[in-house]
Amino acid sequence: MNCRPATIDDLPAMVGIYNHYVEQSHCTFDLTPFTADGRRSWWQEFDGQRRQCWVAEEEDQILGYACSTRLKIKPAYDTSVEVSVYAHVAHTGQGIGEALYRSLLNALANQDLHRAYALIALPNEASLKLHERFGFRRVAHLHEVGRKFQRYWDVVWLELRLP
Ligand SMILES: CC(C)(COP(=O)(O)OP(=O)(O)OC[C@H]1O[C@@H](n2cnc3c(N)ncnc32)[C@H](O)[C@@H]1OP(=O)(O)O)[C@@H](O)C(=O)NCCC(=O)NCCS
Repeated sequence: MNCRPATIDDLPAMVGIYNHYVEQSHCTFDLTPFTADGRRSWWQEFDGQRRQCWVAEEEDQILGYACSTRLKIKPAYDTSVEVSVYAHVAHTGQGIGEALYRSLLNALANQDLHRAYALIALPNEASLKLHERFGFRRVAHLHEVGRKFQRYWDVVWLELRLP
């Protein structure tokens, strides 16, 4: 498996991976699946600097992606990013999340960034383990902050100091 920066050609595969979780899981609070075209404004945020998107690829198949996005719009937040990671549902538990975060977080270490945050809707043992392995620490717990599939979900915020 190879991790590399994503290109626009990877967008349909990334949308396919993400839409599974949009439709089937509380791990994202998006409620409606995307088309690749509908995901272009999300894609345009990536600048290869603070905001990066990486894919894991094997034999021309995209197995997952990880990215850093703007945490909040107000500019004093620019030294913080939100990070997220999605492995293809058929390939979870195979080290893809770990490989992607190793690549993404290494790349972010060279940017003018101070903190990374992950927002994890509970329960999500795999995501908690992955983030904790990379040194993220829980800093907040929001109770029943989102509603999906007719029920409310808690979200924890995890924080990582970037070098
Ligand atoms: C969360 C996710 C990205 C982790 O990636 P992954 O490739 O499945 O995980 P890895 O194989 O790299 O393993 C990472 C850690 O999670 C643990 N893990 C993996 N699958 C697990 C599972 N089903 N239950 C519990 N722990 C699990 C691994 O043991 C490992 O922990 P360790 O470092 O302490 O050994 C992936 O499972 C996924 O895409 N889940 C759905 C989307 C999602 O929840 N994204 C995160 C949104 S915050």
